[in-house]
Formats: sequence, C-alpha cells, structure tokens
Amino acid sequence: MKPGDRVSLQIEKGVYRGRGLARSGGRVVFVTGALPGDRVRARVDKVKRDFAEAALEAVEEPGSARREPPCAHAARCGGCTYQPLEYEAQLALKRDVLVESLSRARVPLDGVDLAVTGSPEEGWRWRARLHVEWEAGRPVLGFREEGSHALVDVERCPQLTPGLARLADEVRSALAAEAAGLRGVEELRLGEGGDGASRAAVLNVHRALDPQTASRLAARVPSASGLGWQGAGPGAPFVRIAGEPYLFTPRPHGVLRSHVLSFFQGNGALLDVLEATALAPLAGARRVLELYSGAGLFTLPLATRAEHVRAVEGAPWAAADARHNLAAFGHVQAIEAAVEHDAPEWARGRFDAALLDPPRAGAGPEVVDALARTRVARVAYVSCDPTTLARDLARLREHGFALRSLHLLDLFPDTFHMETVAALER
Ligand SMILES: C[S@@+](CC[C@H](N)C(=O)[O-])C[C@H]1O[C@@H](n2cnc3c(N)ncnc32)[C@H](O)[C@@H]1O
Repeated sequence: MKPGDRVSLQIEKGVYRGRGLARSGGRVVFVTGALPGDRVRARVDKVKRDFAEAALEAVEEPGSARREPPCAHAARCGGCTYQPLEYEAQLALKRDVLVESLSRARVPLDGVDLAVTGSPEEGWRWRARLHVEWEAGRPVLGFREEGSHALVDVERCPQLTPGLARLADEVRSALAAEAAGLRGVEELRLGEGGDGASRAAVLNVHRALDPQTASRLAARVPSASGLGWQGAGPGAPFVRIAGEPYLFTPRPHGVLRSHVLSFFQGNGALLDVLEATALAPLAGARRVLELYSGAGLFTLPLATRAEHVRAVEGAPWAAADARHNLAAFGHVQAIEAAVEHDAPEWARGRFDAALLDPPRAGAGPEVVDALARTRVARVAYVSCDPTTLARDLARLREHGFALRSLHLLDLFPDTFHMETVAALER
C-alpha cells in the first residue's frame, strides 16, 4: 500500500474523531468519512509502519445505519461528521469509542454504571463560531470542509437555536451591505442566553473597524442585545459597538451572566441534565474544590449546598463573570488563576470533594497529582475528550481512585464530539 492507491475496504467500526477503521494486508487503515459497516473505496493518503490513513472516495455498500443526511450542507461541511448516521447509531458509536478509550488506557469498567443521554439533533446550539472569508468582495460565512481549509458557505445551520440563526442571518446581510468597511472580518462569534432575550455577536478582525461602519453595522443587526469587535492575537481587547456583550441564563439558583467571549456550554437542551449529572457524585460534600469553573455554571448550585467552595478559572472574561455570579456567596472563593498555579493553595482548603471540567487537553498529570495530594475522596470529572479523560482516569486510579460511574451526554449531536461525566471515589 502506498499514498495515492485506491483501495476497497470493509469498515469494521468507528473510532474517535469520526474515522472508520478497516484492515488491509495486516495493516489498520483509518478512513475519514467512513461509517461502521460501510464497504468503501478510499484513496490512501499516508502510510506509516503500523497504520495508514485514507480519504473516502465512494460508499460502495452502505452500513445498515447510514441515512440521507438531514442537513443540506452535510456533504461538504466538516462540522457534522455523523450526519449520515441514524441518531441512535451515533449514540452507540460514541459509547463504543468511550469504552475503547478507557480500555486502551487500562481503566477497568467492570461494575461501572454507564449511562447515555441523547440530545435533540436540531436547534440546540446557542454558541457558534463561524469563519468568514471574502470572495470577490462578497462575504462567505460557514465552517471548514472536512480535512481541508476550504470554507463551506453555510446559509442555515440546523444546529443553531432559532434566535441564533436569526442573528447569524442579520450579521451575514450586514457584512454584505457594509462590505467595504468590514473586509477585515475573519471570524464571527455568536451567543444566546437562556433567557431568550440576550444575544451577542463579536466580529474578529485583522484591522480595526472605523466608528461609522461600526454604527451602521449595529443598525443592521437589531436582534443583537450586544455587539462588538476584537482584534487578532491572544488577549486582544474587546471593543464594544452597541449594547452589552453579556448573555443571561436563568438557572434554579439564580441568573448566570456570561460574557459572549467566556466559555459557556453550547447545548442549551442538555444543560439541566449536565448540571445534575456533574453534581450527583458530590452529594453531601461540605468543602468542594472546583477546577476550570468557567462563569460558574456548577459553582452556583454548589454554593447553595456546600460550606466552602474554591472555584478556579483561568480566562479573564469567565473569571470576571464568576466573581459577578457568585458575589452573594461569602463562602465561595472565585479565583482567577491557571489551575496548575493554584495547586499550592489546595492543602489549606481541607476539601472533601472536587469537580473538574477541563478543556479538551484534559487536566494532565501535574494537576491530577496535585489533586491526589489533597484529602479529596470524591471526584466528578466532566470531560469533552474521551482520550484525555482516559489518560487522567488511569492516573487517578494509580492514586487510589476507583471509577464508579460514567455518563455520556451527547452535547454535540451529529458531530464526533462527546461529553462524559465520570464519578470516582477513594
Ligand atoms: C470546558 S470549560 C468548563 C467551564 C465550566 N465548568 C462550565 O461548564 O461552564 C473549561 C474552562 O477551563 C478554563 N481553562 C482552560 N485551561 C485552564 C487552566 N489551565 N487553568 C484554569 N482554567 C482553565 C477555560 O477558560 C474554560 O472556562
């Protein structure tokens, strides 16, 4: 087998990142775009000693769970790898990927409860990031094609809530109408609050917007309660154009404010079940260490139950939201710091439980080891990447923590992404 070869392959199963696994001549071949049970023709891109990578050229015989993708953009848009798979089969595949990730990391699953919760496939997304390119002076807004940098013009993404879709349409028309002054726009960040009224957009630009263009833009985006722009590079300031850039989400214990540039969970439909699942392993905990706490989605309910909470968040926008959202709770410390830098403070906290919700890179050995040096006996680990979750759970196991339950929540239907809440004890 060599790059450029065309091969016919039987896909045995799906693996993480939306690829199908086949075997040819004793070598594993990962095929982008292939689904479990497919017979495909694929073009070999890379050949390594133990495996090869190939791109799908044609489905010769579809697997039994293939379907006509509901979204018109599915054939090109790289956002929704699993659109052509029946939804129940998507859930089964994600469950298999999670189990395989843990098995490969040698995390035993005997006696571990494994639950799966699905999501509506449409209208769930209340945060979105769209790329913008300019073709002959006309804006193209959308997502990248799978495995390429080509931008797919996505006129209507069915994942968006109706409010976010309306906001995206308004910004699209405004970019077209004010193209001369807006050609520096490269990306668009959109968010909607759970109150149904707050909606904000941020234009990421490589050259500053002039004030006249900015105010004409604001007039063309009436459904935004907040609008602003931000230059390129990490830490570039947010420049307000109109309204306030905050999104408001009512929760059982108060209204959470989050800046449109703060992290906030993207699936509004599963927010309640995510919160309940993440907090369940900590029932009765008195002193809780919360790491990667964002704007305080989990901190707020923890504040109403625990005697003391230390919530650590590194991003300035989210940390400012957390301070605002938790100001009424004197027993909650909302700390702005990198988790790894905060670790020397943990011994003093006499914590009995911890909740972690790291980004895709996971917590990593340094943070896991520091956590293990505390008195924490119960851990809820919320993860958006099964491979880094498996790595961190294996390390927690070395420190004497046993895995009690796993709950896969499909916060990202039709994509290969998945959320998992793991409960551990020692
Ligand atoms: C997956 S989000 C979870 C946020 C929150 N738990 C929620 O559900 O809204 C991860 C958060 O960790 C923060 N973060 C990433 N790396 C960090 C680090 N090294 N130290 C502290 N916070 C970090 C991000 O800014 C983000 O807010």
